[in-house]
Amino acid sequence: METRMNASNHVRIVEVGPRDGLQNEKALLPAAVKIELIDRLSATGLATIEATSFVSPKWVPQLADAAEVFRGIRKAPGVVYPVLVPNLQGYERAREAGAGEVAVFTAASEAFNRANINASIDESIDRFMPVLERARADGVAVRGYVSTVLGCPYQGEVPVADVVRVARRLHDLGCHEISLGDTIGVGTPVKARDMLRAVASEVPMSALAVHFHDTYGQALANILTCLDEGVRVVDSAVSGTGGCPYAKGATGNVASEDVVYMLHGMGMTTGIDLDKLIETGAWLAGRLGKETASRVTRARTA
Ligand code: HMG
Ligand code: MG
Repeated sequence: METRMNASNHVRIVEVGPRDGLQNEKALLPAAVKIELIDRLSATGLATIEATSFVSPKWVPQLADAAEVFRGIRKAPGVVYPVLVPNLQGYERAREAGAGEVAVFTAASEAFNRANINASIDESIDRFMPVLERARADGVAVRGYVSTVLGCPYQGEVPVADVVRVARRLHDLGCHEISLGDTIGVGTPVKARDMLRAVASEVPMSALAVHFHDTYGQALANILTCLDEGVRVVDSAVSGTGGCPYAKGATGNVASEDVVYMLHGMGMTTGIDLDKLIETGAWLAGRLGKETASRVTRARTA
């Protein structure tokens, strides 16, 4: 692909299905199935698999078995397995289970943060400040998520300036990578491009990732536009699992199979074996008892 801003043809996919996908599925999968999922994903060539999250089990019962899952997975050489943590308590649980990379999260919208983590943006950052300090001392890399970058289920429009401010803050605080999340999947390509451009004027593009949910079917178009701007890290979930409990009708992340199919079709590399990914997605849909959200997997397994 001809991109204006980045000559590299390689895209790193951050597979978030075991965390972002499963946290919002109605079906509660046993830990053994989650472990098998991650082990299968590890064999596809993925370099980054977000394995689980150490949040309050009262808030996210689907991932209450985080420690068991993290301990149970086979850590494949060359693959990193970050986990989500909301606060120091989560960080300590994650480290005890053996996690070597973590992710913290906040949003560009105050109303969304209140519903998701019962805190304002500033309070959420205050909560994970000690996480960043400890992580620095422990040599643990920290990813930062900014949610609702293209719209909020409560306040609607989210000013780009708010996204830039929060992303910049996380980067200044030491997050090595900032994932820009269209949590409810309402964004469209020109808005996605403008938002990414604005953030990239304050945070290096090499430290940015994009994270699209596919509620309105815009995710691939948005990703393509962002690749054109130079982003080379894309979050996605095998089988397109998930949703958002605070946004009615919101669907899961864009399916990893569909992103990889598009990238390979454009001559870009991911290091991922698409056939193995499709197999894993079809297997997961079976375990969840639902049809896969991946168009590629549907086409290939029809
Ligand atoms: P709270 O109730 O305000 O917190 O929750 P608290 O500090 O008052 O603690 C309440 C209870 O939770 C206490 O237990 C704590 O010990 C416990 P109690 O005394 O009542 O028995 N607790 C914990 N337990 C285990 N692990 C922990 C932990 N922390 C506190 N880490 C809190 C605040 C942040 C904890 C809660 O709101 C929470 O866990 N929220 C998580 C919500 C969540 O995971 N949302 C989804 C992730 S974000 C996302 O998906 C977006 C993303 O994908 C990007 C995108 O799409 O845009 C990243
Ligand atoms: Mg998400």
